[in-house]
Amino acid sequence: MKIRKLKKKNKELIQQAAEAIVAAFADSHPDAWPSFEDGLEEVKECLDPESILLVALDDSGKLLGWIGGSEEYDYAWELHPLVVAPSAQRQGVGRALVAELEKRVKAAGANTIYLGSDDVTNQTSLSGIDLYPDPFDHVRNIKNLRNHPFEFYQKCGYVITGVVPDANGPGKPDIMMAKRIQ
Ligand SMILES: CC(C)(COP(=O)(O)OP(=O)(O)OC[C@H]1O[C@@H](n2cnc3c(N)ncnc32)[C@H](O)[C@@H]1OP(=O)(O)O)[C@@H](O)C(=O)NCCC(=O)NCCS
Repeated sequence: MKIRKLKKKNKELIQQAAEAIVAAFADSHPDAWPSFEDGLEEVKECLDPESILLVALDDSGKLLGWIGGSEEYDYAWELHPLVVAPSAQRQGVGRALVAELEKRVKAAGANTIYLGSDDVTNQTSLSGIDLYPDPFDHVRNIKNLRNHPFEFYQKCGYVITGVVPDANGPGKPDIMMAKRIQ
């Protein structure tokens, strides 16, 4: 596997990245990028020259996954999105993409990478309930019910820093995570 920056002129990989984001979120977040056009728009946004878009490719040059990062504060970048094609999941592609983004964001001088990971399909114990008045009590006792990626990020060194209750509708929160990279 090789990881490199996606270039605007690489139309074939841009298409594959758009297809991959639709396929990767079809089960867990079907409203996020329901069509190829939605996927393509997201890829194009991430190709902003101020941001970072990295692709993971197999030996034949086919796209396995991709990751985006953008500078949102003077010293903190947001990781968004992270996509591994369904057929390439659980083979270390996601971890490698996160590590490469961290390397580049660290070199850019940031202290922190943060992300939000939605739960809209009852994947964790934080969904389907009222998180008020003490969201942190629920966060402390979070359980992964159906393969929510928060555990993937924990394995990459990220911690849960909070939750945005009802971010995607009642009982559908966004789980916030961060990692110190310096
Ligand atoms: C979540 C995702 C990015 C993980 O990428 P991946 O390439 O499948 O993960 P890796 O193979 O690098 O996994 C690294 C570790 O995390 C674990 N892991 C991966 N996905 C996991 C999940 N959903 N739940 C729990 N653990 C998970 C792996 O088992 C592995 O653990 P190990 O080191 O103990 O063996 C990928 O499955 C994906 O694209 N999913 C759909 C889209 C998505 O949810 N993106 C993130 C939204 S915030």
